[in-house]
Amino acid sequence: MTDPVEAAFAELATHAEAVEPLHMRDLFAVDANRFERLSARLDDLLVDYSKNRIVPATMDLLVALARAAGVEAWRERMFSGEAINGTEARAVLHVALRNTAKRAFTVGGQDVTLDVHAVLARCRAFADGVRSGQVKGATDKPFTDVINIGIGGSDLGPAMVNIALAPYNDGPRIHYVSNVDGAHIHDTLARLDPATTLVIVASKTFTTLETMTNAASARAWIAEALGEDAVPRHFAAISTAIPKVKAFGIEEHRAFGFWDWVGGRYSVWSAIGLPVMIGIGPDRFEEFLAGGQAMDDHFRTAPLEQNLPVILALIGVWYRNLLGFPTQAILPYDQRLARFPAHLQQLDMESNGKRVRKDGRLVARPTGPVVWGEPGTNGQHAFYQLIHQGTDIVPVDFLVAAEPHETLGDHHAKLVANAFAQAEALMRGKTADEVRAELEAAGMAPDAIDALAPHKVFPGNRPSTTILYRKLDPFTLGRLLAMYEHKVFVEGVIWDINSFDQWGVELGKQLASELLPIVKGEAEPDARDGSTAGLVRHFRALKG
Ligand code: F6P
Repeated sequence: MTDPVEAAFAELATHAEAVEPLHMRDLFAVDANRFERLSARLDDLLVDYSKNRIVPATMDLLVALARAAGVEAWRERMFSGEAINGTEARAVLHVALRNTAKRAFTVGGQDVTLDVHAVLARCRAFADGVRSGQVKGATDKPFTDVINIGIGGSDLGPAMVNIALAPYNDGPRIHYVSNVDGAHIHDTLARLDPATTLVIVASKTFTTLETMTNAASARAWIAEALGEDAVPRHFAAISTAIPKVKAFGIEEHRAFGFWDWVGGRYSVWSAIGLPVMIGIGPDRFEEFLAGGQAMDDHFRTAPLEQNLPVILALIGVWYRNLLGFPTQAILPYDQRLARFPAHLQQLDMESNGKRVRKDGRLVARPTGPVVWGEPGTNGQHAFYQLIHQGTDIVPVDFLVAAEPHETLGDHHAKLVANAFAQAEALMRGKTADEVRAELEAAGMAPDAIDALAPHKVFPGNRPSTTILYRKLDPFTLGRLLAMYEHKVFVEGVIWDINSFDQWGVELGKQLASELLPIVKGEAEPDARDGSTAGLVRHFRALKG
């Protein structure tokens, strides 16, 4: 019997042969309702996917693929707390963290709602204390600055949210230190006064090399300036490993827990969001959670055909597997989403950068794309050349707010005009005839036109999806982030991979710990491969 997923892929492959030669310029010309047909919304949040290389029948076939892969059943398995992260035997229940409506969520038969809300209440009290100045440092001064020390999911999520919600930050300044490169913590500490600085050590495992190294340096900085006794007053921790937190010297009432059913890259909704909460206040943080929950409700209940995360995922699968595009650009026309592409990079690439299926067999087709991006309009003056005229086709997501936070002349109109123009240019392109007509009108000689015209042609038919929302407030940021989380989940289900483990990060960590004594000169590199041994020797010679 044919596997229903393979059958759906086979139908899509035949369909792709028919769709690939079509130009979107023509598809718009013959269908006045293409935008209405190929866009979907959740309240003000609009996803316009009409500028993609699809026809309405493509979506029908893709939805059939999603059904064949069991997306609806897997979605229920996730929401019901089943251990769908098979290689780690863990549930995947970040949706329980943004449960502002206090619905019941269970893991192993235990309702986790009370625990989630108990930690949230403790975070709230601590954040309020720091913000009001009730929680003070060892010299009785209120905290003006908070450093979050963490990496990966313990850094990217909260750092991205803090930047995105800067207009709401009415608390202390929040800084993020992640890299083990001493330059990162050095340059951060150099600007700060230990007497008014709170350090939060954020690590799910509380063993990560970078975080523990930075935490030790920050601890020494506090102890040197204010004395060893000051350490407990200047530190807090977020972790699932509370005994390790205590062993570091952080008191239990300053330790905020979460659970193994929260993946690092999905953890900003947990106590990992504490620095955000200190910055914008607990009420605003709850609006962010409520936005996540609104998207969860939509994802769980909307028909697949109108389901925003599902639509994004299906377009992703179409490009990756049927048209063979290797990357996906995230281009926010919203400066405060500057770190959104970096966060999505971890979310998508750590989740779906997998080559074996859930049962260990090799996958049958490519999985997660390379995710990258920068805010517009900056990117336009850097890498858009390749997106418009390069030999690879890069599907793009544009993110655009209707309202800015600041009223500054016509900045926002210019920003939005550029976003829409890029989407239009990518779709429409510029034909050789159009180029020649323009050059002729400018009075150029025929020979010169022949030479220049090919360089000025834009093939067009380059895909983009535009995500348009009213304003980048906490609620909307929550919706956007949860939308991409569920997109990644749906793609993982279709590819039959475990999106929730990350074994691919382990080998490098293991070899780094073997190489550390060799790099330090405490052992010899003889047993390493020729390149590594050569690098170590040259490194040692250079550093003297
Ligand atoms: O190395 C990858 C990783 O395990 C990520 O998945 C995680 O977000 C990051 O490291 C940080 O881990 P931790 O929060 O345990 O310090």
